[in-house]
Amino acid sequence: MFKKLAFIAATLAVLGTIAATNGTGSAARGKYLVNAVGCNDCHTPLKMGPKGPEPDMSRFLSGHPEQMGALKAVPPRGPWLWAGAATNTAFSGPWGISYAANLTPDQNTGLGIWTEDMFVKALRTGRHMGVSREIMPPMPWTAFRNMSDEDLKSIYAYLRSLKPVVNHVPDAQPASAIVE
Ligand code: HEC
Repeated sequence: MFKKLAFIAATLAVLGTIAATNGTGSAARGKYLVNAVGCNDCHTPLKMGPKGPEPDMSRFLSGHPEQMGALKAVPPRGPWLWAGAATNTAFSGPWGISYAANLTPDQNTGLGIWTEDMFVKALRTGRHMGVSREIMPPMPWTAFRNMSDEDLKSIYAYLRSLKPVVNHVPDAQPASAIVE
């Protein structure tokens, strides 16, 4: 029993030291980059406004809206190969179906548990959390991987400063998993 407790305490201590912090980048520089590069284009859902579609700022960078749920694949037609949902947060193409991730620091549905290192690795290697499955199109990580460490860390710092939005984005569906 005591051994078990000691083990749990030791594990918690280790987790405590690697738990996500705001990192070492400049949140101000990160804000500038996020706005200039257009993370918002895909990670903030569009809603219909008086002048047409506009980003829904109450869901800023919180990804594909949970309420819309998972969508059906769109088969290619003629020269058209891929499709995007009206929100510009869900995409169907030869890769399968991808949903823009929740980039707010919510613990369960966003980047809450991501460390700075995971974030930099994900954008450099195109792998989920920097280590697992491949990140699908149209997430432009092949362009973003050319940013300096300092810039990627600054984007991370800015994202950590956002208001956490609870929004559970559906899991991506790779083409191999789609049965029509
Ligand atoms: C053209 C649309 C688009 C733009 C622009 C875009 N993203 Fe993404 N992003 C996506 C999609 C779609 C996914 C989900 C891909 C998947 O699930 O495989 C994603 C996923 C992610 C993920 C999660 C990766 C993971 O490991 O789960 C992060 C982090 C991310 N984007 C950060 C950013 C940042 C930061 C920017 C701006 C510098 C940005 N994205 C701009 C479409 C985009």
